Amino acid sequence: MDALSALHNRVSVNILEEPAPTESQVNDIVRAGLRACDHRNLRPWSYLLIEGEARHAFGTLMADVMEKQRGTPLEPEFRRKIQCKPLRAPSIIVVAADIKEHDKVPEAEQIMSGAASAQMMMVAAHALGVGAIWRSGSIMFENAMLEGLGLSANHRLIGFLYLGKPVVTKLVPELDPDDFLTRWPS
Ligand SMILES: Cc1cc2nc3c(=O)[nH]c(=O)nc-3n(C[C@H](O)[C@H](O)[C@H](O)COP(=O)(O)O)c2cc1C
Repeated sequence: MDALSALHNRVSVNILEEPAPTESQVNDIVRAGLRACDHRNLRPWSYLLIEGEARHAFGTLMADVMEKQRGTPLEPEFRRKIQCKPLRAPSIIVVAADIKEHDKVPEAEQIMSGAASAQMMMVAAHALGVGAIWRSGSIMFENAMLEGLGLSANHRLIGFLYLGKPVVTKLVPELDPDDFLTRWPS
């Protein structure tokens, strides 16, 4: 697939199944992430690959962090539902911005670079025929989530990229660039 076609036609895939992307596909996806725009080349990115049994531990972490956030135990059925969230895909890449101290590049720019990196990975997945959806949630912003993932306090979570074989692929919405682009001054 050529680059423009991948960029123009990427869509999220909500329902994903086995198999997980191969090692070589994961490598290609991460390489794309590493080409994100990056002020002063700080390389402010960290990625965690969660697959197989590790998804259960990730689900438990999600439920524990949510419980901590709410300050009250989750109702057992709801807790089970949260614990099962990572099982919606065979593979998950956690994307984090690894914020560096820099006098010219504020934290916000490094977070933007992290998001750019995640988007590059989404497009790469699409180009490879790997289904992907970027997911998040308020628990992403809890320190307990960073701790549970083994990330230091200078990290900011950007997203959870769920990856797998696409089950259903939706249509690409027709958006007209003229509705978004205005020549300035008008
Ligand atoms: C920062 C960020 C967080 C998101 N979090 C979620 C999420 O938690 N759950 C979800 O279903 N979609 C989430 N999305 C949106 C989807 O990834 C997807 O982009 C959206 O459903 C539009 O579909 P499309 O990518 O096919 O255009 C998020 C997107 C971004 C950029």
